[in-house]
Amino acid sequence: MTSVGRDSVERSIKQCYSTWGTSYYADYYGADAPYPPVHLDLVRRLVAERDVKRLLDAGCGPASMLRHFVEPGREVYGFDLTPEMVAEARRVLVAQGVPQDHVWDGSVAVASDFVAPDGKADYDCVLSSGVMPHIPQAIEADVIAGIRAALRPGGHAIVEARNELFSMFTLNRYSHEFFLKQLLPIDALRKHAGDRQEGLSAALAQVEGMFRTDLPPIRQGKADEPGYDEVLSRTHNPLLLQQQFRDGGFENVQLFYYHFHCLPPMVSGHAPQLFREVSLQMEANPQDWRGLFMASAFFVVAQRA
Ligand SMILES: C[S@@+](CC[C@H](N)C(=O)[O-])C[C@H]1O[C@@H](n2cnc3c(N)ncnc32)[C@H](O)[C@@H]1O
Repeated sequence: MTSVGRDSVERSIKQCYSTWGTSYYADYYGADAPYPPVHLDLVRRLVAERDVKRLLDAGCGPASMLRHFVEPGREVYGFDLTPEMVAEARRVLVAQGVPQDHVWDGSVAVASDFVAPDGKADYDCVLSSGVMPHIPQAIEADVIAGIRAALRPGGHAIVEARNELFSMFTLNRYSHEFFLKQLLPIDALRKHAGDRQEGLSAALAQVEGMFRTDLPPIRQGKADEPGYDEVLSRTHNPLLLQQQFRDGGFENVQLFYYHFHCLPPMVSGHAPQLFREVSLQMEANPQDWRGLFMASAFFVVAQRA
């Protein structure tokens, strides 16, 4: 990917997040958030189970996670692409006693941006949550290499992504797109259809009719900035991302699912409280295989070989 291509993706992402610096934490982690921050509880457990004295949050936002990991004997660091996020992260962390140069502007696409201002990387853990969706596929391997290079040998990456296979459960526009782009061999079908084109078109139309392709609604920006669905916000197949970490020099690569949906979201409105209660119960086992389809997000946890 050219640096011009990356610049234009990063410009729209910065714009998208520019109005979120001060409200993001309340929107997703606060008492009035639509769903409790179960991913924070999960990361807390994952970090507590490891010896993490030097922690970097790559794409830290307003230190939404990082503020929960400040404790005696641990150095925390964070960087982010969006200046408004960096400013808020610095404000929050400095108030907790973290030196202000532990937060800086940077992109996960640039390996040297993982290095702290003291010139050191060598982190015990690199956390990155909510960032992979915004990384173009062409530079994904470089980002994984950057994370690996920033870790000490034996250190852990905890990297979050949106689950592409959740589309097999939602029965909506995403499911239809997944069928068309990833499952059905459309080119081969068209090439071999010959005089059966009409039958093929009827079959594809019937497949489309099986999904609610008008759902979900597109999320737009709050003002003039592009909304989350209007900038690059990819999903990942957990099994393929797991393999990419293995190929990128990581071992013990595990998947942890979260944001379980005990019913397809489009029908949850019939019994919203029940949906919420049972979905929350399912979060108790982030390694439940059903997460592959029923959870909308996941973490890859991987150890630098
Ligand atoms: C969904 S928010 C997540 C914030 C925080 N990590 C959390 O989990 O609460 C995504 C963040 O990633 C940042 N981001 C997107 N692309 C990035 C990149 N290439 N390098 C660094 N940060 C990036 C955005 O600026 C935004 O603050």
